[in-house]
Amino acid sequence: MSDSSPSETPESGQRRLPTYDTLQQLWSGWLTQPKHSLLDRWLKAEAAHWRKRRGRPLPLSLSQGIFHAERFRQLACALELIQRQGMEQDWDNWDAHWLPDMASDVSRNAFWFWIQCRTGSNWAVPDDFHTGARQTLFDNVSKAVKQEPLSPLWLLWHGVRPQWLAQMRKRAEVSGWNDEQLQAFISRQSSQPSVWLRLRPGTDEDALFAELRAADVRVFRSEQGFELRGGKGIHNTDAYRNGLIDMQDLSSQQIVQAVNPQSGEKIWDTCAGAGGKSLAMAAQMGRKGVVVATDLHQYKLDELKRRAKKAEQLNIRTFVWDGEAPLRLPAEVARQQGFDKVLVDAPCSASGTWRRNPDARWRFDGASLAELTALQQKLLTLASQSVRSGGQLIYATCSWLTEENEDVVGAFLAANYQYQLQSSQILGVPATDSDSMFVAVLQRS
Ligand SMILES: C[S@@+](CC[C@H](N)C(=O)[O-])C[C@H]1O[C@@H](n2cnc3c(N)ncnc32)[C@H](O)[C@@H]1O
Repeated sequence: MSDSSPSETPESGQRRLPTYDTLQQLWSGWLTQPKHSLLDRWLKAEAAHWRKRRGRPLPLSLSQGIFHAERFRQLACALELIQRQGMEQDWDNWDAHWLPDMASDVSRNAFWFWIQCRTGSNWAVPDDFHTGARQTLFDNVSKAVKQEPLSPLWLLWHGVRPQWLAQMRKRAEVSGWNDEQLQAFISRQSSQPSVWLRLRPGTDEDALFAELRAADVRVFRSEQGFELRGGKGIHNTDAYRNGLIDMQDLSSQQIVQAVNPQSGEKIWDTCAGAGGKSLAMAAQMGRKGVVVATDLHQYKLDELKRRAKKAEQLNIRTFVWDGEAPLRLPAEVARQQGFDKVLVDAPCSASGTWRRNPDARWRFDGASLAELTALQQKLLTLASQSVRSGGQLIYATCSWLTEENEDVVGAFLAANYQYQLQSSQILGVPATDSDSMFVAVLQRS
């Protein structure tokens, strides 16, 4: 990649915007990656190469440009189609046949021009486009979509495929959202949610805030939680190194609140992954009680153990569990005939994370949904056998799709009369500026 772009203008000392060529080269590199690659991981590796080669960080405007291009790659194709054939299109039919790769068929200048217009960026795309027909078209479309919320073009404008509208309407219906809330949910799919932080319980907030401010880490406390807004990240602070502070999405923290871990309890986190929720639960329980954290993958549990050690969280035990048979209960849990609480944070479509990971939306495949919901049902049923009587089973996903949430819980309850639904809620937009997640608490009689 050429090194022509991000730099200081010698005369003003101000940051110059990265050139368009560099952005395009980065984007081309991303497009050559295998289909299952994750953009955030790939960009992290690219940023590390960049720093190594150039001795300075990858400019934020470049990585943001790539994220923007992912969010609006279908819109760029749609705008180019309008440019060639006019506004009147059978959008549903077009969307049914559209593939993410088709963004490469749009000429390079046109693609970046559309993305630039939609995001208000300035990448110095050649000037003839600015004053030409495309600019007029963009202005017209931008006025037209405002008049027609929920129309196919309005959905595309917000990075949402028209074919997803039926499922989004179902979400609105089940959650009792009005039209405004549905529109807010959809329009927020084109923006990134806040970065949320979790503080270790009992932390002296004033002292911590003073330390973070001194390190130019801008943390804000709202009614909902702790938000990072601009400034530096937390990773180079002592507070992070010592486990006083960690990044955790607000919705994920709310799932932990729904579990409501109490000191002395025995809790099983069945799909613990790298332990986002296990760590939060263990911290809330103090040093009394235990969290048994299991996952299909040992490497995720290794990361969990590393994080637990850093946070001095000694009350977490880890095992591999593949979800094929009930867990063999550890002796102290067998003595009380099951766990007090079992959390099934199930593998899912991750549709609730599209705002943070815009590339994930193009990997979403409605056809594999049936496979996923069968797995969710199986894990929930197996896990339910390890809850003691009077205990609780908590089901969670990072998906807003009713098929993966209310429908899974409904089918489970219909077949398991010893359980009753205590509460269930969708988390995130439109209520809070965080990922969309779901949590249901089921009480065992
Ligand atoms: C939504 S993620 C869990 C996120 C984690 N609880 C957290 O808070 O960071 C779902 C997890 O389920 C695990 N998983 C997938 N299939 C599984 C199976 N058959 N049995 C057990 N775990 C499984 C995945 O490895 C993944 O870590």
